[in-house]
Amino acid sequence: MQKTKNITPPKHVAIIMDGNGRWAKKRNLSRNIGHKMGAKRLVDIIMHANKVGVKYLTCYAFSTENWDRPKEEVDYLMKLPLEFFEENKKQISDNDIKVSFIGFDENINSELLKTKKEIVEKTKNNKGLHFILAFNYGSQAEIINAVNNIIKDKLLVIDKEIMESYLFTKGIPDVDLLIRTSNELRVSNFLLWQISYSELYFSKKLWPDFTKSDFDKAIKDFLKRERRYGKVE
Ligand code: IPE
Ligand code: IPE
Ligand code: MG
Repeated sequence: MQKTKNITPPKHVAIIMDGNGRWAKKRNLSRNIGHKMGAKRLVDIIMHANKVGVKYLTCYAFSTENWDRPKEEVDYLMKLPLEFFEENKKQISDNDIKVSFIGFDENINSELLKTKKEIVEKTKNNKGLHFILAFNYGSQAEIINAVNNIIKDKLLVIDKEIMESYLFTKGIPDVDLLIRTSNELRVSNFLLWQISYSELYFSKKLWPDFTKSDFDKAIKDFLKRERRYGKVE
């Protein structure tokens, strides 16, 4: 049987951008400064992923569990995407990048909902990288939500395709490469369905320290892997 060694860059890369708090703590700065530096890093990585030919990049910015953090931090994390898209929308559009979101709109303030809508609308016909921001996203909640909608629609039997059409990631191919920074070896409720056959890559770097060359290293590692999907050679 034909080997399925990767010869092209991963089509879909997902990143758990972790370690902002520790990055700040190491420097005696507030956790929020760590998040700000993390957002700066994100724009570089988006541009780089676009340049190297990745088609989809999904980044985890706020989980359904992150609401349990101190109010000051949650408030800041709700403001950060506003700043992020205000500062970077021109660069995003100029580079033909399409933006969308996965996650729940519940509990998101109206200003942020408006920003989300605007950037999605402004970039919807772009043909470069599709950047997907996971915000107020949790995979278990996503799956439960899908099942509840399936029940509402009165479907009695479903298959993989139908299930996937009820997920936030409808129409987006499964993740090829999942990167997590900050040396934590877990997936923290991110894209559990969509990473069934992903290659996993863990970086020791804290997210604000993660560079384009670290991204390239992850891609290089991916290219050495042989994906078997349960088959034998
Ligand atoms: C990731 O960094 C960003 C979010 C979860 C919002 P953390 O804030 O989790 O940073 P650490 O893990 O505490 O260092
Ligand atoms: C995962 O990081 C969520 C995001 C990066 C947005 P966490 O810091 O919330 O995950 P745990 O708590 O270490 O599992
Ligand atoms: Mg963390």
